[in-house]
Amino acid sequence: MGRLACIDGITSAPEEAKVSVYDRGFLYGDSIFETIRTYAGEPYALDEHMARLERSAALVAIEMPIDKATLALEVRRVIRAARNDESSARVMLTRGAGPMGLDPSLALKPTRVILVEPLTPPGLAVYRDGVSVITTRAQRASDAAHGAKVGNYLASLLALKTAHAAGAHEAVFVTPSVDHDGDVVEGATSNVFIVKDGALITPPPEAGILVGITRAHVLDVARELGLEAREARVIESEMRAADEVFITSSIREIVSVIAIDGARVGNGTPGPITRRIHTAFRAKVGLGALPLPWSEK
Ligand SMILES: Cc1ncc(COP(=O)(O)O)c(C=O)c1O
Repeated sequence: MGRLACIDGITSAPEEAKVSVYDRGFLYGDSIFETIRTYAGEPYALDEHMARLERSAALVAIEMPIDKATLALEVRRVIRAARNDESSARVMLTRGAGPMGLDPSLALKPTRVILVEPLTPPGLAVYRDGVSVITTRAQRASDAAHGAKVGNYLASLLALKTAHAAGAHEAVFVTPSVDHDGDVVEGATSNVFIVKDGALITPPPEAGILVGITRAHVLDVARELGLEAREARVIESEMRAADEVFITSSIREIVSVIAIDGARVGNGTPGPITRRIHTAFRAKVGLGALPLPWSEK
């Protein structure tokens, strides 16, 4: 099982891969990225990830050093070279190195890095039992470049630290609003869905979310199943009173939330609609034959 790094097109073992201490990704978190996983060795939704990277680059005014189709080929090449059964790949773009100083024009040339590792998806128990989350009122760091997947994850990281200290799997950002309730935004590294009376609701882009690729596929899958699925404001009390809640991300796919701040969601077990959607999602990614915990005999 292999780990590889590729910097500006040159692939090496990660231990040999070096980036300048003057790289602005290091100095200022001046970077964007994508996390991608493979199914049967093929990077899933690669074009969508490359398109989002290109959008992030435009939002933070980092020039794409190579076009997205060429970058996609490079990602495929590094994944193939790593020879894992399944891989995860992190594709990063920083503004590059240059003399110290905040002025972005000091950066000379963007740095692109691809890191490939064996995929470590959640264990079956996570899907079988669901997870607990906490809510957090912090703001995410990317507000300056709304919608961009920027490298600075400090707010998420601190929220996750608090979640783990509380024995929870994920932290859900809630922004205070003029109403008494806060607005649900997203998880530290995931999007949030609630299920109420058979319908799926997920906060819209205007809520300040990162528009997840898994989120879009889940909306599609739900509609294909004939379920009502809409993007709409979700207030905190609605999330707490939902029949089912789940989070989505590329690596974890769909994970049931069975408790929020220690209080049970629904009956405290992964719900039937979440399971149905996950089963259909697996079929869509081409892994319909692989069992999820509830389809095991
Ligand atoms: C803040 C945030 N929101 C949502 C997501 C889910 O996005 P995707 O489904 O594209 O992986 C992520 C994934 O890392 C994330 O970091």
